[in-house]
Amino acid sequence: MAKTKLPDLVIGDLIINPPIVQGGMGARVSASSLVSAVSNEGAFGVIASVGLAEVGEADSNGLSYEERSKAALFNMIHATKLKTKNSFGVNIMCALSNYDDLAKVSLEENVAAIISGAGLPLGLPALTQDIKSNTKLIPIVSSGRAADLICKTWSRRYNVLPDAFVLEGPLAGGHLGFKFTDLVSDELPLVENILPEVLSVCKKYESAKGKKIPVIVGGGVFTGKDIARLLKLGASGVQMATRFVCTDECDAPDLFKQAYINSTEKDIVIILSPVGLPARVIKNKFVERIESGEKIKFTCPYRCLKVCNPYSANYCIAQAMINAYKGNLEEGYVMCGANVHRIKKIVSVKELINELAEEFGENLYTTT
Ligand SMILES: Cc1cc2nc3c(=O)[nH]c(=O)nc-3n(C[C@H](O)[C@H](O)[C@H](O)COP(=O)(O)O)c2cc1C
Repeated sequence: MAKTKLPDLVIGDLIINPPIVQGGMGARVSASSLVSAVSNEGAFGVIASVGLAEVGEADSNGLSYEERSKAALFNMIHATKLKTKNSFGVNIMCALSNYDDLAKVSLEENVAAIISGAGLPLGLPALTQDIKSNTKLIPIVSSGRAADLICKTWSRRYNVLPDAFVLEGPLAGGHLGFKFTDLVSDELPLVENILPEVLSVCKKYESAKGKKIPVIVGGGVFTGKDIARLLKLGASGVQMATRFVCTDECDAPDLFKQAYINSTEKDIVIILSPVGLPARVIKNKFVERIESGEKIKFTCPYRCLKVCNPYSANYCIAQAMINAYKGNLEEGYVMCGANVHRIKKIVSVKELINELAEEFGENLYTTT
C-alpha cells in the first residue's frame, strides 16, 4: 500500500499532522488519556475545561467551586503533559461564569491553543495582555457573520486577529450555534455551504493584516473521504469529536461508549439546554423526563453558567453531564454528533487515525 501524505495544518508556528483537531468534550470525556493519545499520533488533542470540578459548596479543604475548577484544569494540563511531549489545547465554553479563570490557567500553562465556542469569545485577547504565552486563540463559529464580528472586534479593540477559526456545522455534537427550528427541519443547513462565507471573511482580514487565518471544519466529519472533501473545499483541517469517543483511550466510561454503539438514527434528538443553545443527545429516560417538562429538583450553590437561571431551569446540566461521565445514565445524558449511529466498535486512537489517513489517501492523492 502506498504511503499517504496528509497535508499539515499550519497555525502560525504550530504544525499539526495529520490535520485533525479532536474537539473538546465535556464533562471529562476528553481528558488527559484521550488528549495525550491523540497528540501522540501527531493530531491535536483538546482538553474540555467544563465540569472538571464537582459542582457544590466549598469542599472539606474550604476551596470554592472557582478555586477547585482552576486547580482541576491545572492538574489536567499537567497530567496530559506527563503523557505527551506534543502540543495540545484547551476548550473553554464562553457560557461558563469562570471563563476568565480557565483561560488564564491555560495561558499561564502555555497550552498550544485555546479553542472557544458556545458564545463568541469577543474579550479573549484582553486576557492575554499580562500573561506571556504562545497560546493560539481559536474561536468556534457557525457563520461568516460571527467570524466577521470576531475579526472586526479583535482588530479594533486589541489589534489582533484569530490564529484560526473552527467552523462548526449543524451535524456536530455538544451545543450548536444554530436555531432549534433549523436543526429539526428536513433541510438542515450544510457546513459546505457556510464554509465559503467564512473563507471570504478570513481572506478580507488576511489581506488587510498580512496574516493567514486557517479554517478548521467540524460537525459530522466521519471518514477520511470527508476530510479530503473538506480540504478540497478550502478547509485547512478538520475538528472531530464523536468518533474519538469510541476509542480505548477516551476518558468516558464504558456505558457512555456503549450508548454510542447501540444508538440508531431515530435515538438522536435535539434538546434546548440550560446553556441557552440547542444540543444533540441520545434519547434515554432522562431525556424523556426533561422533554416532558418534568422539573428535576436541584440546588445551585454556584452559577456555573452565565445564562442559566436555576429558578426556571428544569434540571442542572452540570450535574447531568457529570452523572453521564460517571456512567449514571439514569440521571444524565450522552451528547453526540449526528453520525453517532454509524459507529460500530471501539478502536484505539492509532487505529482510528490510520483508518482516516488511509481513506484520505484513497480519496485525495497518494505518494509512493
Ligand atoms: C460528548 C461531547 C461533548 C462535547 N463537549 C463540548 C464542549 O465542552 N465544548 C465545546 O466547545 N464543544 C463540545 N462538543 C463539540 C465538539 O468539540 C465538536 O466540535 C463536535 O462534536 C464535532 O462534531 P462531531 O462530533 O460530529 O465530530 C462536544 C461534543 C460531544 C460529542
